[in-house]
Amino acid sequence: MRMQKSKLRTVLLGSALAVFGSAGIASAAEITITCGSVGKEQDICKTGAADWEKQTGHTVRVISAPSSTTEQLALYQQMLSTGSSDIDVFQIDVIWPGILGSHLADLKPYSNGVEAEHFQPIVANNTYKGKLVAMPWYTDAGLLFYRKDLLEKHGQPAPETWSDLTKSAKLIQDAERAAGNDKMWGFVYQAKAYEGLTCDALEWVDSFGGGDVVNAEGDITINNPQAIQAFEMAASWTGTIAPDGVLNYQEEDARGVFQSGNAVFMRNWPYAWSLAQGADSPIKDKVGVMALPKGGENGKQTGTLGGWQLAVSKYSKNKEAAASLVMWLTRKDEQKRRALAASYNPTIASLYEDKDILEANPFMGNLKDTFTNAVARPSRATGANYNKVSNAFYNAVHNTISGKVDAATSVAKLEKSLKRIKRKGW
Ligand code: GLC
Repeated sequence: MRMQKSKLRTVLLGSALAVFGSAGIASAAEITITCGSVGKEQDICKTGAADWEKQTGHTVRVISAPSSTTEQLALYQQMLSTGSSDIDVFQIDVIWPGILGSHLADLKPYSNGVEAEHFQPIVANNTYKGKLVAMPWYTDAGLLFYRKDLLEKHGQPAPETWSDLTKSAKLIQDAERAAGNDKMWGFVYQAKAYEGLTCDALEWVDSFGGGDVVNAEGDITINNPQAIQAFEMAASWTGTIAPDGVLNYQEEDARGVFQSGNAVFMRNWPYAWSLAQGADSPIKDKVGVMALPKGGENGKQTGTLGGWQLAVSKYSKNKEAAASLVMWLTRKDEQKRRALAASYNPTIASLYEDKDILEANPFMGNLKDTFTNAVARPSRATGANYNKVSNAFYNAVHNTISGKVDAATSVAKLEKSLKRIKRKGW
């Protein structure tokens, strides 16, 4: 069959464009990535992606993930279970590799060994059945944010134990209300029934020495007196030093109250620092950051390990370009940019010696122990069952802090549910 000359020219021109693209690369792809939507996450992801577009000539579509990690997971599980190729790159939570690992591509062929520069426990966490299914992007640990100015004004020291915090929170809340700020609360945190509550409650339990719900060997450890004490303590805060509404708070709800100047203490993740220190923040330069209090004299300071990774879907039609985007966004320079612009903790050890980063985020240097000793949720031990375990845990906690079920009963019921989930093994 003979083709007309003009037609042939069009075809050739078309394929030449496809081959060379705008930046002279083999062929331009459109990569779709999901990025979180908490604080500055969307913006900062988009600017990083735009830099990669410029470098490569590919384009990126950034999809805004739901703010709750619990909702994100449900959505992604649904998509991935059908083998959908709609999303090439997923931003995944530190607790997901065991749940989503079978749907994710091995990044080792694309990483050039650069994962060796990242914190090794995170790399191990992101290794599923011998495959590197995600590159570390930023790490997280629960921290205590407090109003330096208010503590000083009311002669209160930074709290060592939760009971110190409870007392100071009440005293300052009452005094500030009497002085005219009737919106003031002592303490805000994440207590909606979702993964965020699992993180907060694990800190309460662990700070009293009550363990980590399911230990590394897979034993269910939650039914113990220290855990009950922790549940009781948190129940005593609802409606006293924390608004009843806290039972429906995620990260951004707590930050909203704290940043508008209406809370003395806040439990949150590092991202809140950059926003609290923003030019338009009413609490700029009035905030201190410290490790969360101990459960009691014999308790310990602890923070839950969080953090996010970037993974390529096994079903992506553009794995190479997708992996290139992942490597670009997780690389050292970009982690530095993100630490400076939005206080995301790098996952590359050497960046903790970077002067600019430590100056912008003093807590990253001061609280090194908190980050290195953070308590992990039992996602390794419980594997694909982790989501069920967490769901049972946060519902048990929520039932107690909302006054529906007393702490001892709740913990005993939780133990039973976890045994049912475990049956013969995780
Ligand atoms: C933060 C943490 C993540 C955790 C989530 C809970 O985003 O980095 O690990 O699951 O908070 O809300």
